[in-house]
Amino acid sequence: MIFEQIVTGGCLSYLLGCEATRAAVLIDPELSQIDRYLGLVHQQGVHVRYLVDTHTHADHFTASHALGKTLQAPVVMHRVSPAPFADLRLDDGDMLIVGELRLKALHTPGHTRDSMCLLAADRVFTGDTLLIGGTGRTDLPTGNPHELYDSLFHKLLKLPPETLVFPAHDYKGRSHSTIGVEIAENPRLQSKDRDAFVEMMLHLDLAAPTHLTEALRTNMSGGRTVTQLLAEAAAKVPFMALDELSQRVGGNDPGFVILDVREQEAFQAGHIPGAVHLPRGQLELRVNSVLPDPTVRIVTCCEFGKISTLAAATLRDLGYGRAAALDGGMKAWKEAGYVVEQ
Ligand SMILES: [Fe+2]
Repeated sequence: MIFEQIVTGGCLSYLLGCEATRAAVLIDPELSQIDRYLGLVHQQGVHVRYLVDTHTHADHFTASHALGKTLQAPVVMHRVSPAPFADLRLDDGDMLIVGELRLKALHTPGHTRDSMCLLAADRVFTGDTLLIGGTGRTDLPTGNPHELYDSLFHKLLKLPPETLVFPAHDYKGRSHSTIGVEIAENPRLQSKDRDAFVEMMLHLDLAAPTHLTEALRTNMSGGRTVTQLLAEAAAKVPFMALDELSQRVGGNDPGFVILDVREQEAFQAGHIPGAVHLPRGQLELRVNSVLPDPTVRIVTCCEFGKISTLAAATLRDLGYGRAAALDGGMKAWKEAGYVVEQ
């Protein structure tokens, strides 16, 4: 069996493959690690047949949608998943065939309604249903402590005790456990009483995960994250360094325009000498009158270098083929001690 555990902070994802056929599956891939997955796939010489999300994640961005397009493989989720990009929806007991490997889906609602675990040979990928020394929380959208009780005590914990447990999270650097160890030691599983379990889950009082709203919105719709939008814009434009721009300031070159895309107040408080002002929100509507010559070289600037990247990409889309963005924005410009005009 080809097996790689990819650790990103507390998130665990997996590349699982068949040695004989080089067919593989990626489980719970995370958006920030796309290059790493593609590197691993290449290094292992495997063909990814499926991208599986064990559930709708609320704490990180899934890479399944993006990787599915790149690797031309279907995204697999449980039947009740809200994600419109799921290509293959599984019911409890359905099996995926990956070369000589067999992955069986166990529907284990509770952490979310669409949670499932995947059983493959000697191991089970438990998503957020069962964690090492813990369980998934049940207080986020579609969570239900009663269902989690049933999924754990009537399904997952009935697996042979030697079954290896590979969860979707561990914040203490542990890689795996077994069903037997969890039954014996997991503090949340020590009382087998349903009411006591539900009571405990209802009173955990956990903080909301960071990016909760954006992660749910993106993972449920297949929409893009702010980070993705910026990365897409950055791929379309070159940048200009602060020192390069500083040498061009005051050069009286009519073919070179510094375009400040911040709001009026920020522009008036201090801008690069000679900069032309056109706020990002008015770019499309006013660009024709502000920049009548589409062949000029343009450097956009904003406060931190992000809005200016989006603006430069928009300008390129509109036909200003020489638009670039200032690397670092006004904050970096001022910190470097360059001249500011008011
Ligand atoms: Fe989760």
